[in-house]
Amino acid sequence: MIIKPSFRIGQVKTYYFATKLAQIAAMRTMGKDVINLGIGSPDLKPPQEIIDTLQAASTGEMANQYQSYKGVAALRQGFAEWYDRWFGVTLDADTEVLPLIGSKEGIMHISMAFLNEGDEVLVPNPGYPAYRMASKLAGATVRHFDLRADTGWRPDLAKLRKQDLSKVKIMWINYPNMPTGAKADLSLFEDIIAFGREQGILICHDNPYGFILNEEPISIMQVAGAAEVAIELNSLSKCFNMAGWRVGVMVGQAEYINAVMTFKSNMDSGMYQPIQLAAVKALSLDQSWFDQLNDVYRQRREIAWKMMDLLSCNYDKESAGLFVWGLVPESVFDVESWIETILQEALVFITPGFIFGDNGDRYIRISLCCDLEKLTEALKRVAVLLEKQKQKVEG
Ligand SMILES: Cc1ncc(COP(=O)(O)O)c(C=O)c1O
Repeated sequence: MIIKPSFRIGQVKTYYFATKLAQIAAMRTMGKDVINLGIGSPDLKPPQEIIDTLQAASTGEMANQYQSYKGVAALRQGFAEWYDRWFGVTLDADTEVLPLIGSKEGIMHISMAFLNEGDEVLVPNPGYPAYRMASKLAGATVRHFDLRADTGWRPDLAKLRKQDLSKVKIMWINYPNMPTGAKADLSLFEDIIAFGREQGILICHDNPYGFILNEEPISIMQVAGAAEVAIELNSLSKCFNMAGWRVGVMVGQAEYINAVMTFKSNMDSGMYQPIQLAAVKALSLDQSWFDQLNDVYRQRREIAWKMMDLLSCNYDKESAGLFVWGLVPESVFDVESWIETILQEALVFITPGFIFGDNGDRYIRISLCCDLEKLTEALKRVAVLLEKQKQKVEG
């Protein structure tokens, strides 16, 4: 390459899944029928009425034109009503709701809007890699904070308070947590809001898994005074099977929204209007939508648990979200090569926990975005592989 990419690009690596999916695609081209239990991209369909709304709207007069940077009024109103209905949080649809083209993009927008060179960002370890990458791309310094099983995968605020946090501008948190599945409660959110206020840190809560295998969805905005120091991201990707549609939202105080809008309006030119109108429909769905969705995931989770049992991994049956997170037995020396063996020999891809940070080194993650038939086949293949390995050792 004659022209060198920016210094910024040298700070980050290609997203792990981009590389892994390319490897899986190459294996499939060679006729290997890999079952992918890695990525959390829902395979189930959104409700038909949402697709119908999209189709009908696509012939509308405004469908093909540039859209407002802050989304159509109906979508902002839809999100405001959604927050009111499910969380009892009142938002001004005009000033406190910003629809996004996916919440992953929102992580980057927030980072660009708030971070200067030299600022520090508290990022959970383990955690969603985009927090780390977006912080680095924005020129900030990442400071990991530990999440550990013995403290319920919650930040140790007392330990953080003992550190010099004067350069920290943003803290990322995410519950129900990905990858661990840990849930929060309002008292945890109250503690974190108090911490943010006392330290002058913007608390960014990423909340895309609230309705998946989780009895009581909550929002950090429910905490009194949260809006002074917190913003929240939400997404239609997981809760409505709309990952490819790219619809998310940021909610928070008008001043925070305006700062992000300033960046966003220079980055994108709005979201396809029919998608926005279909999203409004999705937001109006009632509890029965989540009930039937969770029935499917509950059945799949049974098989994922069996797979964890087979692999002698330890996991928490109370966890929420789209994944099962398991602690690998001590007998496995190198988790990455163990995962690679399962991929090459059983043709089943499971995510190794190290990609979420080194506190995930001894863990693996199984996605529930795979139908029962394939999950059962994956279970069978792993059983055959383990049996073969056992016979080799005995034999
Ligand atoms: C914790 C977390 N946040 C955000 C996202 C991205 O969601 P979206 O599809 O809205 O960009 C994901 C997707 O995997 C995620 O796991």
